[in-house]
Amino acid sequence: MGKVIGLTFDLKTDYQPKTSEPSDANAEFDHPQTINLIADTISSLGHQVKKIGNVFSLLDGLDNLGVDIIFNISEGLSGRNRESQIPVILEAKGIPFVGSDGLTLALSLDKLMAKKVFLAEGIPTPRFMQINQAESLIDTDHFRFPLMVKPRFEGSSKGIDSNARINDLDALIKRTDYVINTYKQPALIEEFIKGREFTVAIVGNDPIEVFSPVQVKIAGELNLGEKFYTFGHITSAELEYVFPAPISKALEDKLKELALCVYKAVDCLDFGRVDFRVDEEGNPFVLEINPLPCMAAEDVFMLIPKTLGMTYAQMLDKILQSAFKRYNL
Ligand SMILES: Nc1ncnc2c1ncn2[C@@H]1O[C@H](COP(=O)(O)OP(=O)(O)O)[C@@H](O)[C@H]1O
Ligand SMILES: [Mg+2]
Repeated sequence: MGKVIGLTFDLKTDYQPKTSEPSDANAEFDHPQTINLIADTISSLGHQVKKIGNVFSLLDGLDNLGVDIIFNISEGLSGRNRESQIPVILEAKGIPFVGSDGLTLALSLDKLMAKKVFLAEGIPTPRFMQINQAESLIDTDHFRFPLMVKPRFEGSSKGIDSNARINDLDALIKRTDYVINTYKQPALIEEFIKGREFTVAIVGNDPIEVFSPVQVKIAGELNLGEKFYTFGHITSAELEYVFPAPISKALEDKLKELALCVYKAVDCLDFGRVDFRVDEEGNPFVLEINPLPCMAAEDVFMLIPKTLGMTYAQMLDKILQSAFKRYNL
């Protein structure tokens, strides 16, 4: 039977970066077309959609939502718990919602915390350290350049441009200083993994369906070497996704197995996407899990059903059905 489904989200158009903020300040937020696509698709599946908007719109109407469940794709406005704000409010109110809960969302957004969990579970991830002050960077002997510098709790490639890969100590100090001051948070330094890049999409809880890996191609190359995905690539013709990835069965199985471990390690629910680099010897490293992957029609998550001959609606329905089943709806 059709349900009443509330939609919570953050629109790019609701948030204009201030002059003091970096130009990628609203990178995580969605285009109105994506919200309309999700709303229309949910309607086409026989449900009624109520567009709610961001956390403040949710709070305004909290006592009279009149929904069976919320489909939440809100990235949140500020702080490292921003993705959790809507889920914990819904949890407190006893309102069902699709997707992972507040703990999983906050843990995964904070790349440092997530990597600590990966290590505890024996999941390979690039060697790392956190830097609170660039001046403290005197002894990097135990690290192998090149290194990657990123903000500790950002997504959507925020803070990742062509200068994020670092070859020497001077550049490392400059870049960490830039990241700390621009994004107002610690910098995460990681060993740079030369090689190939993959992402693995997952849907469901019981059973959990792990899709074959998608490979990232940049400027016509599958062997990326020192190339990597930057904020600028999102809208660039240089970036292509290859699905299914042309790799050995052994590597495919390994990536799927690791993606499933990561999904379970952070208690991901209903859907998620795990990003990998694979070094030149074929060793995979988990970069991060996205429990709230971008649902735009052109983004990598929704490219997978398209290539498999599934529609956007069928993929969305799988996600919704996983959540309905959890709540016995
Ligand atoms: N340690 C690393 N080695 C090589 N490339 C990396 C590394 N960390 C990040 N990258 C590159 O930067 C991109 C974005 O990094 P990621 O950790 O996935 O953050 P985001 O949340 O912005 O997607 C990756 O897709 C990859 O191309
Ligand atoms: Mg990523």
